[in-house]
Amino acid sequence: MDFLIRTKMKKEELIKHKTPFYCYDLELLSQTLDEAQAHAKKHDYHIHYAMKANTNDRILKLIQSKGFSSDCVSGNEVKKALEIGFKPNQIAFAGVGKSDEEIMIGLENEIFTFNCESVEEIEVINELAEQKGKIARIALRLNPNVDAKTHKYITTGLEENKFGINSWELDNLIEKIGSWKHIKLTGLHFHIGSQITSMTPFKNLCIRVNELNTWFSERGIRIEHLNLGGGLGIDYQNPTENPIPDFELFFGVFKQFLEPRPHQEVHFELGRSLVGNCGSLISKVLFIKKGIKTNFAILDAGMTELIRPALYQASHSIENLTSESRESEFYDVVGPICESSDCFGKKIELKETKRGDYIKIHSTGAYGEVMTSGYNLREQNPVVYINE
Ligand code: LLP
Repeated sequence: MDFLIRTKMKKEELIKHKTPFYCYDLELLSQTLDEAQAHAKKHDYHIHYAMKANTNDRILKLIQSKGFSSDCVSGNEVKKALEIGFKPNQIAFAGVGKSDEEIMIGLENEIFTFNCESVEEIEVINELAEQKGKIARIALRLNPNVDAKTHKYITTGLEENKFGINSWELDNLIEKIGSWKHIKLTGLHFHIGSQITSMTPFKNLCIRVNELNTWFSERGIRIEHLNLGGGLGIDYQNPTENPIPDFELFFGVFKQFLEPRPHQEVHFELGRSLVGNCGSLISKVLFIKKGIKTNFAILDAGMTELIRPALYQASHSIENLTSESRESEFYDVVGPICESSDCFGKKIELKETKRGDYIKIHSTGAYGEVMTSGYNLREQNPVVYINE
């Protein structure tokens, strides 16, 4: 029962909280952040935390206090980042569809950069900046056409995806850039996808970035920073044995293959790899129901609390925290929502499970709590923090 041992949270403590609830291990988060920062600093790399992964205040505060910058994808995330204490010059604002109001928030606060995804977006930012009497710093999000070899819903760097500016648009863009008087092009931005566990896509990204970086310098355009995005995956299958991703290996690939010019800063936008394993979803078994092949363990948490399995066929490690049985059995672990996709895993081996047992769904710190919904008018319960 690693949860009980690691947290020293006794069963009496566990049952005080109304289920389902998100539980964050702040010590593991702190260790993960320190490790990421240490390996990035070795190469003078800057990490923006991709806030979309988890916007819980306590988590954001810890990340901010450790010197990370932030990567936002909405006006509200920019506001939240400022509230938490991130400095405007630490904020990158990305997104394929920024509204005028959201652009205004970025302009008023003179953020570090807008990561721009189309020519039309740059034109609009230029116009709005002119109205405000500001110069907007922008980075071009370029579509590198590199396959991240991950789930298709979280692949972003292929020409068929909606993201980024494709290479065939660059000549046209560069011709216009001189006429946009309220824009300062400072960076190139890339992001190929998420939950990437092989280093090959990152190596391929570096090779493509080197080509594009050269393309700009050959045209006399000075680029001050390269932003390589996020995407480093976590070990969903063995989170207890392997709670912290291999940041040394990850940054090492960029050190080896990326060729920044001497004046260029290198930035990253990591989300999942920083927060993914520090969170878990704790739920209670409502009923055990006999199925044809396996039994169903019906939990009080569903796709409304954690949508990743339903949306991306994601598989999270699942554990019975309180069963004292020595026997184990196979269960389809499902939620209470009226959708067949409301299933956390099929044929999951658990200690013999009965009504009232506590179940831990591991590695839900990223894209868990932030993606909850009120479908079926579901309630949201308070979050629990451990190892503070
Ligand atoms: N930068 C950009 C431009 C992004 O679009 C993303 C994630 C990140 C950085 C952070 O990526 P990470 O380091 O977390 O892989 N909801 C999905 C993941 C969506 C990722 C969206 N973009 C999931 O639960 O798997």
